Amino acid sequence: MGTAKLIYDGKEYELPTVVGSEDEVGVDISKLRALTGGAITLDSGYGNTGSCQSSITFINGEKGILRYRGYPIEQIAKSGTFTEVCYLLIYGSLPTRQQLDEFNESLTYHSMLHEDMKKLFEGYPPTAHPMAILSSMVTSLATYYPHSHREDRIDLNIVRLLAKATTIASLSYKKSIGQPFIYPRNDLSYTENFLHMMFAVPAEPYVVNPVVERALNLLLILHADHEQNCSTSTVRMVGSSQANLYASIAAGISALWGPLHGGANQKVMEMLKMIHEDGDNYRKYVDMAKDKSSGFRLMGFGHRVYKNFDPRAKILKQAADDVLEDLGVDDPLLEIARNLEQVALEDEFFIQRKLYPNVDFYSGIIYSAMGIPTNMFTVMFALGRLPGWISQWKEMREDPKSRINRPRQIYTGPTESTYTPIDER
Ligand code: ACO
Repeated sequence: MGTAKLIYDGKEYELPTVVGSEDEVGVDISKLRALTGGAITLDSGYGNTGSCQSSITFINGEKGILRYRGYPIEQIAKSGTFTEVCYLLIYGSLPTRQQLDEFNESLTYHSMLHEDMKKLFEGYPPTAHPMAILSSMVTSLATYYPHSHREDRIDLNIVRLLAKATTIASLSYKKSIGQPFIYPRNDLSYTENFLHMMFAVPAEPYVVNPVVERALNLLLILHADHEQNCSTSTVRMVGSSQANLYASIAAGISALWGPLHGGANQKVMEMLKMIHEDGDNYRKYVDMAKDKSSGFRLMGFGHRVYKNFDPRAKILKQAADDVLEDLGVDDPLLEIARNLEQVALEDEFFIQRKLYPNVDFYSGIIYSAMGIPTNMFTVMFALGRLPGWISQWKEMREDPKSRINRPRQIYTGPTESTYTPIDER
């Protein structure tokens, strides 16, 4: 174990370093306050702070590497299925055929919601954002399927969450368009079932298009985990108080909703539509993004970690071309996205700041081609991210060193003041 030296107030302190399996180095400051008599570190936005040690996902932002449990995202995306990835992330290794069959069977078996939960959907206005419904319904699962500390019950609740989330998501869509709810079918795979619940109607049979199903698998896989991002850190933060699985994940769903995080995929689509309606003048929007006073950012560009390229965006760019061609969809927004990307990547402003398209840049175009409405995009992201949140929550729970997360602050408010009764003010 190496050490780092810190000189503070004329005194030298030796701090241990921690090295990860990919040689990432962290200076362990857990004794800093005690050693220095009160000094803490300040790292607004946590860009330099490791909040945990984790063996789930590895990212190298400079080299554009993303691996789940050691497996490169490019390999998994090529031939894996989403439920296989769920198993890999949550249980730590690739499943055997038998393990995967059993896992898939239990996901199928638990996909129905408690009938009373349907009444909860009735209470929402038709304009309700499906992310609000998803988050509330996931919290509500805790009232129907209570938490237990028994390992087998936790595993059961994990399966329930993965299984029922697709039913909740599709019901929230059906609610928003005023169509009858469609129940899950046990003869369909996880992804087929979701598409069936989204797009089937009682009046006629619905056949799942294999191109759409493969695209869905790919999108879910690419979103499955991304180490300590905003929503995952939220899940760990809430879970650190020993809040139950459903409450912790619901908090992550809320964090994901923001436009700087998962909400960006909806914003990308809205931006592309705006540019299209404005005569496809994408150069104007690149200029606007460079002008800080405009308050406009190119949505789907930039990433806290990736400073070279986002490997997920690279896969999705190709997938967007393939899926649209396979489905025979001619979307002018894809052309705008390609042009926008090209102009931005050649522009000094974006080069200097290392701003590249992120996973959200092309995902919306594929979702649209699949028939998924814009306000469901972030819900799709949440469905994909579920195994990541669950595995991170599980890892935190099983770590004997886990403590309640409780950051400190540097107080900048008034010093002690004397209270004046209201009549004397
Ligand atoms: N368009 C124009 N300028 C940008 C953009 C953008 N999309 N993103 C960052 N910049 C500029 C900033 O103005 C800043 O410039 P400055 O150094 O001259 O002040 C510089 O690039 C660094 O930006 P920060 O906001 O400091 O970078 P940070 O790491 O905090 O933010 C973030 C990353 C939130 C992703 C940001 O790039 C952004 O807002 N992007 C658009 C929203 C988006 O696509 N979010 C999805 C992220 S991926 C995900 O969550 C799945």
